[in-house]
Amino acid sequence: MIKKFVLPEKEQENLKEGEGKIIDIDGEKVGAYKDKDGKIYTVSSKCAHLGCELIWNNLDKTWDCPCHGSRYDYTGKMIYGPTVKDL
Ligand code: FES
Repeated sequence: MIKKFVLPEKEQENLKEGEGKIIDIDGEKVGAYKDKDGKIYTVSSKCAHLGCELIWNNLDKTWDCPCHGSRYDYTGKMIYGPTVKDL
């Protein structure tokens, strides 16, 4: 099951529509993306394979892992392995 997070109100406002970024919430890093309609999606920023920090890919609107190439959509659903799990 994909873990969800609640962003502090200030972070929700600071996030621009169409933007994705890593946000620190009380020491925990969270990936956050706001779509064109203002809906916010949050995911764990740690890859489900071996835990590397994910990077936002603004072109494809995906969370990509720089370590071994796993990719997730903005909802945290796995697109490509080697991971076999969602975020
Ligand atoms: S740690 Fe992300 S693909 Fe291996």
